[in-house]
Amino acid sequence: MVLDLGSGSGKVCYIAAQLVGQTGRAIGVDINDDMLALARKYQGEMASKLGGVRAQFLKGYIQDLALDVEALEGYLAEHPVVAASDYVRLQEWQAEQRLNAPPDRGSFCGCCYLQLRA
Ligand SMILES: C[S@@+](CC[C@H](N)C(=O)[O-])C[C@H]1O[C@@H](n2cnc3c(N)ncnc32)[C@H](O)[C@@H]1O
Repeated sequence: MVLDLGSGSGKVCYIAAQLVGQTGRAIGVDINDDMLALARKYQGEMASKLGGVRAQFLKGYIQDLALDVEALEGYLAEHPVVAASDYVRLQEWQAEQRLNAPPDRGSFCGCCYLQLRA
């Protein structure tokens, strides 16, 4: 699963949706109604192309999500995911986060965070 924070027009989410496989999902979160409407406009077309709905767009403030975004950003700043071995290390870190997360925190269960480079 890919979580795209501040998904805007949905471009990154739709790219991710092509990479997550048949059972994967790319979820975009944005607070702007116009951006959500624009992103959702292509959902049907993309679902047809990909053989199922793999991209979803939800309204919300990033800061309201029960995720420790600061910890994630801190990790990715020091360990960008550019190779398969980086991804394995990220998964190990996620497992540690889940073990150490306070009960009211969402942690990073089942999520894969990709840093896409321009
Ligand atoms: C510059 S756009 C980036 C869009 C997209 N990530 C891309 O690369 O094409 C930033 C988006 O983040 C959203 N955004 C900014 N702050 C946000 C927040 N605190 N919570 C949710 N969405 C936010 C804005 O509404 C906007 O659509």
